[in-house]
Amino acid sequence: MRNPQLNKNGELQHLLTIDGLPREIITAVLDTAAPFTEVAEREVKKLPLLRGKSVFNLFFESSTRTRTTFEIAAKRLSADVINLNISTSSTSKGETLLDTVDNLSAMQADMFVVRHASSGAPFLISQHLDAMRQEHIHVINAGDGRHAHPTQGLLDMYTIRHYKKDFTKLTVAIVGDVLHSRVARSQINALTTLGVPEVRVIGPKTLLPADVEKLGVRVFHDMRAGLKDVDVVMMLRLQNERMQGALLPSSEEFFKYYGLTPDKLERARPDAIVMHPGPMNRGVEIDSAVADGPHAVILPQVTFGIAVRMAVMAMLAGN
Ligand code: CP
Repeated sequence: MRNPQLNKNGELQHLLTIDGLPREIITAVLDTAAPFTEVAEREVKKLPLLRGKSVFNLFFESSTRTRTTFEIAAKRLSADVINLNISTSSTSKGETLLDTVDNLSAMQADMFVVRHASSGAPFLISQHLDAMRQEHIHVINAGDGRHAHPTQGLLDMYTIRHYKKDFTKLTVAIVGDVLHSRVARSQINALTTLGVPEVRVIGPKTLLPADVEKLGVRVFHDMRAGLKDVDVVMMLRLQNERMQGALLPSSEEFFKYYGLTPDKLERARPDAIVMHPGPMNRGVEIDSAVADGPHAVILPQVTFGIAVRMAVMAMLAGN
């Protein structure tokens, strides 16, 4: 079966997940993003690559970083950007997701950037558009349920490559609530595809998927053991909104065992970088002394996100 994200020429048609995405395409996104960092940092003016195209931001779940950086990225590529206000759209009157999509398609949309609480919503939209012979419209998953957040995974890879250069010599730890995290799944898929020899996940049993080893990672429940000699620490947010039942005794207890503090970070390599996709819960998964400290590259991640999202949109548009 053809990869639903690729067209018959093997080019990116939609970006739905990093799972199954060829290494060449991941590398092409990172390579394409590199010169765009100058545009993202406003050292170079806008580029005309998406002139005349309309990008619709459909965020059915809240967002600060992803929605805003997609908007900036599309504007730096000279696209027209439409941010659908879901709370005042006809979704609130019961219109279905696909009827909304059909109506926006009739307004000559070229790209949909979709965040949704339900895993699979962007895939559903992409299948619908392809079935309706609307192959010229591209779908980008901006985070769906627990499933995937591919542009976050890609910007994280861009950040790691920027600071560490060679993926094939790294030990990377992903810490915290892996169970509910779409970011963790995209990170694991990207790191293993790019040849990182050791990817560790660290967390309590209740917050790790039962068969997480099958994703090609080493599991640690003791954070100090898991952080020993790592090059990269990727912290995750506690996804309280997706938890059902008591998976944790308390956030204080979680911080004691799995919060990243300066003394736990001492177990990592002296030049280790600390990442977080945001939004951060200070004092729950990360101590402010680390979040604002010399190892943190959390704000550069956000800036790199503009360039990476520019690259994804430019590639989808055939540039
Ligand atoms: N990392 C991330 O997806 O952040 P937002 O929810 O603010 O978009």
